Amino acid sequence: MPAPLIVTENLSKTYHIGGGDVRALVDLSIAIPNGEMIAIMGPSGSGKSTCMNLLGCLDSPSGGSYRLDGQDVAQLDSDALASIRNEKIGFVFQQFNLLARATALDNVELPLTYGRVPRRLRHDKAARALEAVGLGERMDHRPSQLSGGQMQRVAIARAIVNSPQVLMADEPTGALDSRTGAEIMALFQRLNGEGITVIVVTHDEHVAAHAKRILRFRDGRLVSDEPVAAPIRAADAVAAMAVPEAA
Ligand SMILES: Nc1ncnc2c1ncn2[C@@H]1O[C@H](COP(=O)(O)OP(=O)(O)O)[C@@H](O)[C@H]1O
Ligand SMILES: [Mg+2]
Repeated sequence: MPAPLIVTENLSKTYHIGGGDVRALVDLSIAIPNGEMIAIMGPSGSGKSTCMNLLGCLDSPSGGSYRLDGQDVAQLDSDALASIRNEKIGFVFQQFNLLARATALDNVELPLTYGRVPRRLRHDKAARALEAVGLGERMDHRPSQLSGGQMQRVAIARAIVNSPQVLMADEPTGALDSRTGAEIMALFQRLNGEGITVIVVTHDEHVAAHAKRILRFRDGRLVSDEPVAAPIRAADAVAAMAVPEAA
């Protein structure tokens, strides 16, 4: 058995602010195997984003250990974390975080410009990622010329352009209507089926029910870790919604 992709022990994050300490994440011990699709749930302020930021190597813990793909990453400095992120992790956010003045293709190429990928290869990889999310015909569109769902698909193409092992999404459907949200979940499920480990932060039970496993946080602590007996298949839900997608 290969080691799980993600293993934490007593992983913790405490913020020191004016009035005292905020224990945003308390003693998280968890193992996540390759190929998992996980939803992270909990009320506002329960530590979901803190957890994702630590697992995604966007931030360093105050305590505990974290092994990602066999490598101890808890003690690494910010440059080393950046290179691990670039190599292994793709991120998707609620507000898409696209460059407004850049085309879809330029937005998706962006992560490759940090990795000294030759220009031609950058272009080809970005074009393939956009095709993989169904936006092959929209490569030269700017964000303002795209719908919310299309912008989120550009963001997902950007997240997968480097073939990461893990895709991490913080409220990826929070700014979308339910049909478009279902399309995005269908895309995550397809990518997961192709082998990418997916971690989705959401406060929406319906979104979480697409995952294979749900973690629930309260006051910075993991209070429940349960498999989902029969995850919703988003592709079926999309097909059942009769309205054809606007051109
Ligand atoms: N940069 C920060 N500085 C101080 N406190 C923070 C910071 N980020 C988050 N917190 C606090 O940590 C707790 C968990 O926050 P967060 O992980 O963002 O929760 P969630 O994503 O579940 O809403 C909250 O009490 C929040 O106010
Ligand atoms: Mg949050």
